[in-house]
Amino acid sequence: MLGWQDNKRLVEILEAFAYGGFAYYLHKSSLSKCVSLKCRIRCWFYGCFCPPEEKSLPFYFRKVIECLGPTFIKLGQILSLRPDFIPVEYCDELRKLQDKVPPFSFEDVKQIVEEDLGQPWSKLFSRFDEQPIASASIAQVHKAKLKDGTLVAVKVQRPQLVERIEQDLRVISWVVDFMERKWEKCRPYRPIKLAEEFSDWTRREIDFRNEAKYMSEVRENFKGNRVAVIPRVFWDLTTRRVLVMQFIEGCNMYDEHCLAKSKINRKKLATTGARLMFEQAIVHGIFHGDPHPGNLVAMRQNKLGFLDFGIIGRLPKDLRKRLLLILSHLVRKEFDEAIKHTLEIAETSTESNIQGYKSKLYSIFSSWYGSTVLEATMTKAFFNAIAEGVHHKVYFPPDLVLFSKMLVTTESVGALLNPDFDISVHARPFIEETMRAEMSPIKFIKGFIKNALEYGEFIEELPMYIIKLIKKIEEHERKDN
Ligand SMILES: Nc1ncnc2c1ncn2[C@@H]1O[C@H](COP(=O)(O)OP(=O)(O)O)[C@@H](O)[C@H]1O
Ligand SMILES: [Mg+2]
Repeated sequence: MLGWQDNKRLVEILEAFAYGGFAYYLHKSSLSKCVSLKCRIRCWFYGCFCPPEEKSLPFYFRKVIECLGPTFIKLGQILSLRPDFIPVEYCDELRKLQDKVPPFSFEDVKQIVEEDLGQPWSKLFSRFDEQPIASASIAQVHKAKLKDGTLVAVKVQRPQLVERIEQDLRVISWVVDFMERKWEKCRPYRPIKLAEEFSDWTRREIDFRNEAKYMSEVRENFKGNRVAVIPRVFWDLTTRRVLVMQFIEGCNMYDEHCLAKSKINRKKLATTGARLMFEQAIVHGIFHGDPHPGNLVAMRQNKLGFLDFGIIGRLPKDLRKRLLLILSHLVRKEFDEAIKHTLEIAETSTESNIQGYKSKLYSIFSSWYGSTVLEATMTKAFFNAIAEGVHHKVYFPPDLVLFSKMLVTTESVGALLNPDFDISVHARPFIEETMRAEMSPIKFIKGFIKNALEYGEFIEELPMYIIKLIKKIEEHERKDN
């Protein structure tokens, strides 16, 4: 049961969806009973309870999400990474979510920092820029200088954020429970499970100590690496609502002028990015979940800075090994084997349509391989394969889904950096090959598999490189323990 205030918010949310083009679905799930009479009459009057034109719905979904505030923007961002929960068209649309909101006042920033850090302002910083560098629905980031002269980025959470988010989470939980009970058609998409996962993520993300912990962990994993730059966390200045970290100086990936001025080799940086992401996921087992251009910094000497560790993925060793097997079979066109191993990591039940899924996988993989279309890359094929699961009631571990999405993001950042990716260039097959061979994170394995094949070094069914990589994973873990 929801309290009075929560009920008010429930109506507000449902009406936003009703007016935003989703009245038909509210009607189908019986949620239309919860909206006001005025809203119901208007919906009847305008025929909104009829099946809508599905093509434009993802766009309207994004618009509704944008106007519902921080919880929903966060939900949208997370959903955009989860093709196992929502259709791919929705994921693509949600990538465009605008998360730029007017900054909150500097007075509030000061108050939160002083309250949380327990010291007067002037004792902590020698400089603090009033104008934030970025201002989003959860937090804003200011550039500042510590007393010892170190430049830092200070991420400060919006005032009263937790209360608003907690209320929305209660409402969402009520809605999904209602939907799953009343509307059978939505059950394969497992709304309750989705809402639980989402709530966990969001609660973790609004405590900045978690982000700081992940950031430190990834930084530690890259100790000694000369190209990966992860901000150092100032732990004694970090709390639930304030995160103080090393300031990362560099260029935005879209800033052509800055990239040129800093003499950044874009092609090299693209390859570096792919390798670093792959190393995080496969060797370290913890990876940045959303390496889109806004969370990356192109630095001098072709170094790459990573920001925003709000969403991370973890791949246990066993999963990493299986993943490598799938990828290595894929690059060798051994689809039957790739499909077999893909199914091994899936969660299936008697309700799963395994045969249907298998043939879908076969068609995804073979059409990728036979395709001359530039956008058809192996990472996209892998991503589509995972995303397709839900339609056959075949489910994958959330971190694996995040991994497949991360590969696609990494590849699109690579494409952004390397002008050869221009689709209008005539030499399409050549570029396609370059992209597959040079840019794709998969090149990393592919090159080594080629070597292994040349030297005929096979143990059981594993190519040599895979064995080396697994050894590296194990060494890394031994070091950790
Ligand atoms: N350590 C840092 N050094 C330099 N700029 C930073 C740093 N951390 C964040 N920023 C800037 O603030 C922006 C928002 O930070 P981010 O952690 O991505 O927040 P959000 O979760 O709102 O996306 C980044 O895109 C970047 O421009
Ligand atoms: Mg960000």
